[in-house]
Amino acid sequence: MQKNIAILAGDGIGPEVIDQALKTVKAIEQRFKCRFTYTPALVGATAIDKTGNPYPDQTHEICMQSDAVLFGAIGDPKYDNDPKAKIRPEQGLLAMRKKLGLYANIRPVSAFKSLIHKSPLKTELIEGADFIVIRELTGGIYFGEPRGRSENGLTAFDTCIYTRAEVERIGRLAFEYARRRNKKLTAVDKANILATSRLWRETMQELHAGFPDVELDFMFVDNAAMQLVTWPRKFDVIVTENMFGDILSDEASMITGSLGLLPSASIGIHTSVFEPIHGSYPQAAGKNIANPLGTILSAALMFEYALDMPEAGQLIRQACEKSIEKGVVTTDIATGKAYSTSEVGDWIAAQL
Ligand code: IPM
Ligand code: MN
Repeated sequence: MQKNIAILAGDGIGPEVIDQALKTVKAIEQRFKCRFTYTPALVGATAIDKTGNPYPDQTHEICMQSDAVLFGAIGDPKYDNDPKAKIRPEQGLLAMRKKLGLYANIRPVSAFKSLIHKSPLKTELIEGADFIVIRELTGGIYFGEPRGRSENGLTAFDTCIYTRAEVERIGRLAFEYARRRNKKLTAVDKANILATSRLWRETMQELHAGFPDVELDFMFVDNAAMQLVTWPRKFDVIVTENMFGDILSDEASMITGSLGLLPSASIGIHTSVFEPIHGSYPQAAGKNIANPLGTILSAALMFEYALDMPEAGQLIRQACEKSIEKGVVTTDIATGKAYSTSEVGDWIAAQL
């Protein structure tokens, strides 16, 4: 079996955390006696510097020809602090999602037992919390046109658009996930205000007829933000539009104790992309201190979702759990001695 993996390390801590995930993947390669080819490609600010384009055509070609994409992070403060910049690294990530048709972003959230004390939330609230956020990824206000500024520059506007077909495909996927889990689906929206949310609600209600075994409830996003940190255990599968999902999943990551721990899988029409939910963390770039677990756990999802090697994914997850238990972790979650990014990567690869 020869599989092709595209490696898009990107910006900031991206290359460091990707290196650790690669150690893990190579350890799996040895253990399972399989062969992967790794093709690096440019994305984000790095790609702008070299080609002027945050998602160059060549990168897209490489992604299209791969069986999976492992993605680090993008973003650079030189753009964050320049609201007038015409080309931005984030456009590369959005272009990639759109061109690969990655309409669903799956973000599993569960509390690691040995890390519960690191969460800013009370132990008794988060113990046993285990849910997934399914975020729509190629529609909504992230992509709607028109967007921009009025001629005199005094007004700015973004557009939130959803078609029925877009809601249907993510809604169906969410029902299927819920069916394989605890059969409880929460659709998060702002239907008391937004027309797009009312389309979501209507569509979800109609889809429900095909999934009568799944319990469906609706929640306004402001209420969901509150309930997530108050009764996180009551959630099983959450489905929501692009921007609500972006915000709620960062909030949910605090259940695990660190934003650096959460992996994600972006799936859809073409090659799936596996990426941590954290950003490029420029303050830590090059310092060998960033938590590589979000990316290593994303590699675990890659084995399960894209490479048909669920056992490898399971082993990686166990090795990550063990590293947390034994305290072989980076400074963001360390209680005693903090290990460096590469030490954590080496340790996990050695376990495998
Ligand atoms: C994420 C990130 C991205 C997003 C940024 C970097 C464009 O925050 O993957 O959650 O907003 O989707
Ligand atoms: Mn985000």
